[in-house]
Amino acid sequence: MLENDLAGLQAGTLKRIAAAALPADLEAIRVEVLGRKGTLAAVSKDMGKIASEERARIGKLLNEAKNSLEAALAARQDQFAATALAERLESEWVDLTLPAPGIRPGNLHPLTRLQQEIEDLFRSLGFTILDGFEVEDEYHNFDALNIPADHPARDMQDTFWLEGGKLLRTHTSPVQVRGMETLPLPLRMIAPGRVFRNESVDASHEHTFYQLEGMMIDRNVSVGNLIYFMKTLLGEVFGREVTVRLRPGFFPFVEPGFELDIQCLICGGSGCAVCKQSGWVELLPCGLVNPKVLEKSGIDPTEWGGFAFGLGLTRLVMMRYGIADIRLLMSGDLRFLAPAAGVAA
Ligand code: PHE
Repeated sequence: MLENDLAGLQAGTLKRIAAAALPADLEAIRVEVLGRKGTLAAVSKDMGKIASEERARIGKLLNEAKNSLEAALAARQDQFAATALAERLESEWVDLTLPAPGIRPGNLHPLTRLQQEIEDLFRSLGFTILDGFEVEDEYHNFDALNIPADHPARDMQDTFWLEGGKLLRTHTSPVQVRGMETLPLPLRMIAPGRVFRNESVDASHEHTFYQLEGMMIDRNVSVGNLIYFMKTLLGEVFGREVTVRLRPGFFPFVEPGFELDIQCLICGGSGCAVCKQSGWVELLPCGLVNPKVLEKSGIDPTEWGGFAFGLGLTRLVMMRYGIADIRLLMSGDLRFLAPAAGVAA
């Protein structure tokens, strides 16, 4: 009789454990069946009434029932825990690759982007990219470039002079000089960087701006080579052919020297503040390297020749992005660092 009760209680309780919907239900079942005042405890109390020869067998069955119910409770408990963990993982899932809310993604400054594009182009054409000094000496900034002591560029109005005859470089040409002094021939190099002029600031003049100068020295370098590289450069920068014109220009370190102008991309040539109503923007002084300059840097001008060009990187950025005031570029306006149109903010 007792044996049947026990079997029924065990089977019934196992079913209830399997069907329990909440961890609290399991605890209620445990208290009810396995607790100190629970059903099993009541059964073991009745043991006294059992004939002694039966007692050991029933006692064993009682133990087995107790163990199997405890194991079933523990297993169901584990299931609840696993489900809870899975639900928590699901609800707390975070995509760490998403931009944080409230933080706007940034971008490279247009100047940096253009500089890197031009560097890539020239690197693919076999040019070395050289870095130089922003604080230079008079020799590398002027003398080595055939700019004599009485040249107006040396004037107090144009050059920021520092103590001990040092100066803030007024162009990136001194980097070319250092390249000529150190690189093996033939050479191809570009020198991008920040330059300084002591002049009053307006919509088209800054005391600090960026240039990118380039030079190629080889045997038989001609104006044709120069024009080819300049056309390749401008086609790449503007993504289309731009209208250019060459005018004679004077720079002491080139002979012959030219001014390469492009038709103003802001007004399309009809005249605006950037092109000073002329329709043309002076973009690129260039020319064949003056033999005197080669000689000063220890290069034999009877064997070697070269071309050089100086790109106003800042002015080029203004043309490309239609920026009408040079002062905006260094204004710290964060819109310059905003993602390009079409990129989600
Ligand atoms: N270094 C000159 C300047 O800054 C530009 C230039 C470079 C001109 C190379 C000719 C050739 O004014």
